[in-house]
Amino acid sequence: MCGICAGIGSENQIEKVVRGLKKLEYRGYDSCGLAYINETKNLEIVKCVGGTENLENRIDKTDFSNVVIGHTRWATHGTVCEENAHPHISFDGQFAIVHNGIVENFEELKKQVDVQLKSQTDTEVLVNLICKQSGTTLEKICNACQKVVGSFAIALIENGKDEIFFARRGSPLWIAADEKGVFAGSDISVFDKNFKKCFCLEDDEFAVASLKKVEFFEKNCKKIEKKSISVENVDFFDGFSDEQTFMLKEIKEQPIVLRKTCFNLFSSLDDAKICELKKFKKFHFVACGTAYHSCLMGCQFIKKFCKKQCEASVASEFRYADNVLSKNCLYVFVSQSGETADTIASARLVKDAGLSVMCVTNEPYCTLNSLADFVLPTFAGKEMAVASTKAYTAQVFSLLIFALRLGGETIQNTLKDFVQAFDCEFDVDKLCQLVLASQKVFFIGRGQDYVSSLEAALKLKEIAYINCLGMPAGELKHGTLALVDEKSLVVAISTQEKTKKKIESNILEVQARGGKVALISNLEHNVDVDLKLTLPNFEEFLMPIVSIVPLQLLAFEVCQRLGFDPDKPRNLAKSVTVE
Ligand code: F6R
Repeated sequence: MCGICAGIGSENQIEKVVRGLKKLEYRGYDSCGLAYINETKNLEIVKCVGGTENLENRIDKTDFSNVVIGHTRWATHGTVCEENAHPHISFDGQFAIVHNGIVENFEELKKQVDVQLKSQTDTEVLVNLICKQSGTTLEKICNACQKVVGSFAIALIENGKDEIFFARRGSPLWIAADEKGVFAGSDISVFDKNFKKCFCLEDDEFAVASLKKVEFFEKNCKKIEKKSISVENVDFFDGFSDEQTFMLKEIKEQPIVLRKTCFNLFSSLDDAKICELKKFKKFHFVACGTAYHSCLMGCQFIKKFCKKQCEASVASEFRYADNVLSKNCLYVFVSQSGETADTIASARLVKDAGLSVMCVTNEPYCTLNSLADFVLPTFAGKEMAVASTKAYTAQVFSLLIFALRLGGETIQNTLKDFVQAFDCEFDVDKLCQLVLASQKVFFIGRGQDYVSSLEAALKLKEIAYINCLGMPAGELKHGTLALVDEKSLVVAISTQEKTKKKIESNILEVQARGGKVALISNLEHNVDVDLKLTLPNFEEFLMPIVSIVPLQLLAFEVCQRLGFDPDKPRNLAKSVTVE
């Protein structure tokens, strides 16, 4: 995981790189740091545990540097502490490096470099490996990289030199250059808004940036000419001054996101494309976490509207499973970031088998899109909070529209009316109190409501640290009911007529064991519960988008009342770029 950012140019780069790191904190925020060449041409390091606000407090505001590399970390090797924070320096103090990725053979390389290490990281091994190679700095890096098994995007600076060296294998690295200098980062949001052209460093390519230019090289150090890419439609999100938390802001943005999705998707899914996609007899959705829940929802829609076989897999399972791949199947990879390691590896596997890949992503210039035969963009805009909210509803809504179009349903007006009426106003205070008064929380539902129960539980776990479970309502009595007692809260989601009576029975079974029940529904239910949260009524297939909103708000509210930071939950990062 982790994010790297680097700048070299005539202006002071320190503030620019810190600003870039802020935009990359979604990749990890356990610690962060900078290495730069100061005005007397010496290498300086500033690093700290925690986010960039801590780093800003450590930086001497009068410091000036033309050459800066920076890092924001999600710990893989070694605990969260200052010693393990990047940048890492070589034993002779000559080189400083920032690294995103994992050096898998670092134990073996550690023996080879044979120096006293200060940290427990694979990255410190890597910088020493580079330092111990012979030749020019570029040759040292190229040679060292040949010995590495694993993934890396690195930026390296050298004591006394106005240059930054870059290398990449597996982990993303973007480089932009103009008359003011060269800027680089793990994604293109680090660039200034007016950057129009940039370069995507490919696997086993290297770059050397000086104050005026950037040059590219192959692994044998042979210079190559690289074509720049024109960048359009990028959300260079800059709203750090917003007082609200990102999570609440993003929950509240959902009505706009749905309107944008409705408006844009009908044009991206043109008739010719739909005709082409209709030839597939089966669909297989693959993703991680919340995006996997979107896949489960997508499966429900495909079966309902297209009457075709459909399954969903968690990417970390799919990539190592004995899959029976078929050319009649469209493999759909869903990812907000488009940089999730397991999802990318799964898509590569399908691609390498010569089969069709569709990607549903929220970032137009992501790695996943580069593997796709067909991209279905979501229009959620930049999502900053670690817990996915608006990207989830955008994915679900996009997959719904996809299934409707593929199934030949012409209900554009229903969707237009829905997005006009949809809002996010729910009072979750009482539900929040019930959760806080309970020792155990279970979310239950059937069909589409089962999927929402999984997503609701994930949100509450990840930001409020409440050990809860989402499960099919019908499964309760096959074991989990044994956990239900008077300290338990069961949140039942019910939006489908055909399973309404079944949910009522499940509720009675919980109550018979002394459990409290909160019911979230748009239907008339004939059962007494501790709390009923009434949802507005829309077509059944639209209800998953409606019912998840109070559950997102619930997780947010519980998190706030417990005093946690909803935007940066502990132990997590927004983009999981390692296995
Ligand atoms: C949970 C959450 C994660 C992501 C998962 C996949 O709120 O955000 O579970 O959904 O890490 O990330 P993407 O969608 O970027 O592939």
